Amino acid sequence: MHPTPSILNSPSILILGGAGFIGRECARDLLGRGWRVVVLDDLSAGDQAQLSRVAPGAEFHEGDARDSQNLARLLRELGPFERVLHLAGRVGVGCVLEDPEGCRALTQDLAQSVCEALGSLPQAQRPRILAASTSEVYCDGQGLLGEDAPLRSAKGQGRWAYAASRVEAEQVLDRWWTNLHGSRDRDAQGPIHLRFFNVTGPGHDPRTGMVLPRFIQAARAGECLPVHGDGLQERTFAHARDLGKDIGDLIEMDNAPGGPLNLGGVAQTSIINLARLVLEASGQPMDRIAHVDPCAVHPSFEEVRRRAPQLDRAHKLGLCLGHRGLFELVHEMLDSPADFDNPGSHTLLPCASPASSPA
Ligand SMILES: NC(=O)c1ccc[n+]([C@@H]2O[C@H](COP(=O)([O-])OP(=O)(O)OC[C@H]3O[C@@H](n4cnc5c(N)ncnc54)[C@H](O)[C@@H]3O)[C@@H](O)[C@H]2O)c1
Repeated sequence: MHPTPSILNSPSILILGGAGFIGRECARDLLGRGWRVVVLDDLSAGDQAQLSRVAPGAEFHEGDARDSQNLARLLRELGPFERVLHLAGRVGVGCVLEDPEGCRALTQDLAQSVCEALGSLPQAQRPRILAASTSEVYCDGQGLLGEDAPLRSAKGQGRWAYAASRVEAEQVLDRWWTNLHGSRDRDAQGPIHLRFFNVTGPGHDPRTGMVLPRFIQAARAGECLPVHGDGLQERTFAHARDLGKDIGDLIEMDNAPGGPLNLGGVAQTSIINLARLVLEASGQPMDRIAHVDPCAVHPSFEEVRRRAPQLDRAHKLGLCLGHRGLFELVHEMLDSPADFDNPGSHTLLPCASPASSPA
C-alpha cells in the first residue's frame, strides 16, 4: 500500500508537461501516494480536461516551461518542491520529421530553462530533477540496449535531430549539476535521465503517429492497419499505468542513482505480429493490413530494425517488474473509450495502399 501522509506533510512535485500522456499517469500515481502535484504545461499537446479526469487534485498552471523566469517564480512561490519531473517536449517520429530543427531547439531550450530556474534557487531548496529522455538516443543494435550502449551523435540531423537533442539535453543537465555541486555526489543525487521505450496505453492519442494507438484507431474504424515496410522491425511496449508506478517508486527513493535509466515494458513483438494481434482482438479480417513506405511521406525517414531495452538497472531498483503483457495492453486499449476517434483527427489508409516491400 502507498503511504498517505497528511496534506500538511505531503511532499510536493512539479511536473513539466504534466498534462501530457505520461505526465497524467505520473500525476495520478503520485496523488495516490499522498504527494501534492503541481503541473506546468503549455497545452501544445497536453489536455487539461484529461488531466482533471485522470488526476483530479493536480494543480494546473498553463505556461511555457522555456520561460525560465516564470518557471523560477513558480518554483519559489508554489514550493518548496522535493522533485521536478521534466516531461515537456514533443513525441513521435512523424512530429520530429515535420520539423527536426524546431524539435531540437525546443528540447535544448527546455533543458536550458530548467537549469536556469533550478540554479536560481538556494541549494537547500533545489529539488532533485528527473527528466524524460528516449530510447532514440541509442545507435541501432541487434541485442538488448543497456544504458552503456553507444549513443547517437549530439550533432545528428534530420530524422536524428530529436535523438541528438535528447543526448545533448542529458549532457546539459549533467554539466549544470556538476558545475554547481562538483562530480562527487552526481551518481547519488544528480539528474536522472528517463530513457523511455514506447510508452502507450488507453487514452493515447493516435495523432502522435505512434504505432499502437494508430492500429487501434484503424481497427475500430474498420480501416487497414498501416505497417511500415515488411513489418519485421521489433519494438517493446510499456503500459503507461505501469510506467507511472515505476516513476512514482523512483521519485520516492531517497538515493536513486543519477544518470541514464532505461524504462520499458515486457511486451516485445514485431510490428506485423502486433498488427495481427490487434486485428484478431478486434474481430477484424486478418488481411486488413497495408504495407506502406514511410519514405513516401517523409523522404528522410530511416527505419530502426530492433529496439529493445536491457532493464537490469531498473530491475535492481525494483522497477519494470510485473508489467502487463502485450495481449492485456491491446485489449485494454480496445476496450477504453475512443476519445480520439472523431472523423478527421487522423488520416487513415485505404486498404489499396501499395506495399513498399514484401511481407
Ligand atoms: N510516449 C513515449 O513512448 C515516449 C518515448 C520516448 C520519450 N518520450 C518523452 O517523454 C515525454 C512525455 O511523453 P508523452 O508521451 O507524455 O508526450 P505528450 O506529448 O503527451 O506530453 C508532453 C507534454 O509536454 C507539453 N509541452 C510541450 N512543450 C512544452 C513547453 N514548452 N512548456 C510546457 N509544456 C510543454 C505538451 O503540451 C504535453 O502535454 C516527452 O518529452 C517525450 O518526448 C515519450
